[in-house]
Amino acid sequence: MTYDFDELIDRRNTCAMAKNGFRNYLFGGQEPVELPCADDETISMWVADMAFASAPAARDAMVERIEGHPIFGYSALLDDELYNVFASWCDDHYGWRPHVDHFRTSAGVVPALSDFAELFVGPEDAVLTLTPAYGFFKHAADDHNRRLVSSALVEDELGRSSIDFDDFAAKISDPAVAMFFLCHPHNPTGRSWTDDELRQIGQLCIDNDVVIISDEIHCDLLRVGRTHTPLAKLFPDYDKLVTCMSASKTFNLAGLGLANIVIPNETMREQWDEHTFPVLNPVSLAGTIGAFRDGEAWRQALLEYLDDNFAFLATTLAERLPDAVFAIPDATYLAWVNLSAYFPDELNLTRYFAEACGVMLEGGDMFVADGDGHVRLNIACPRSVLVEALDRIIEATERFEGN
Ligand SMILES: Cc1ncc(COP(=O)(O)O)c(C=O)c1O
Repeated sequence: MTYDFDELIDRRNTCAMAKNGFRNYLFGGQEPVELPCADDETISMWVADMAFASAPAARDAMVERIEGHPIFGYSALLDDELYNVFASWCDDHYGWRPHVDHFRTSAGVVPALSDFAELFVGPEDAVLTLTPAYGFFKHAADDHNRRLVSSALVEDELGRSSIDFDDFAAKISDPAVAMFFLCHPHNPTGRSWTDDELRQIGQLCIDNDVVIISDEIHCDLLRVGRTHTPLAKLFPDYDKLVTCMSASKTFNLAGLGLANIVIPNETMREQWDEHTFPVLNPVSLAGTIGAFRDGEAWRQALLEYLDDNFAFLATTLAERLPDAVFAIPDATYLAWVNLSAYFPDELNLTRYFAEACGVMLEGGDMFVADGDGHVRLNIACPRSVLVEALDRIIEATERFEGN
């Protein structure tokens, strides 16, 4: 079967944040944004869902559920079907099998992050993460007045980020740090941490008795030929290590509100069970099961398409914006591009590109700290859209005063 990732899909009138949600999300509480084109002519490269049709395996399973059974009542994880397909997926893809007793679901990784900050971090304690970071790591801490401590990644001249382990070791040994949010693979830099890096991270957390939340939501979106190592695979005996995964990024089911959470520690699981409402959406459940069971061929085709988009992006930047610093990421469909040769650090790049060329992207200041001068581009779109978006971005960069 072939899949058409070149198809242009009109997302108007679907309440898609990517299409119609940018005013609130990107510019809420600020001066109204003044676009050079109609809203419908903007190009969305911001929120992390894909402009491709969701995996047919998931859609077919949802249709079957809707047509096959007319009731969508309160539903919960009352059998092992989801666990079984998820555990097999993990086994086949990462050689790691979560234990059935440790398996839970959540209405998303984002709500789970917030719950973890509340449950596993005391009011006087802090959460550590690597920056730049996914904004909801900070929101999760802020939601419960927990302090967020950051350890800045170091970017080399080729655009590849790495961990400053001296700084990380110093930060994690602060007795107030009770939890570490790991993003693996990392949003926004796209790094898939090597086993060696993961071993160092994990050991430092263990030595300092820090709970690890390993957000591995991007784990199925590695460049072709790469494989993902769950942190938990390397530390089977450390049970204060929660793993978060989801079919939502992999199969473009974001918004269906279902994530897989693995909590090996019994006390933490009890806290979680007491605190959370175990209802799940029956249609999402069917879609997730269908995706893990039958979605692999689609995912392989997707990965090839994404690799080609990244190759095109890298070539285009090298030719037309030679001072942009960009390395094709190990994983994700997000490009983290350093444009600091072209723009002052204090410029709000989200607003600049929206107003200069109608491309909605996320500027580096949206990633907690240490992202200035960068933009994050979601390149999970048809090639023709990427071509047009890059033309607009490059021309807008060239037009900026002094360039
Ligand atoms: C690192 C990371 N975690 C979580 C999410 C969102 O998770 P969910 O949609 O399951 O709430 C995203 C989405 O971009 C993400 O990048």
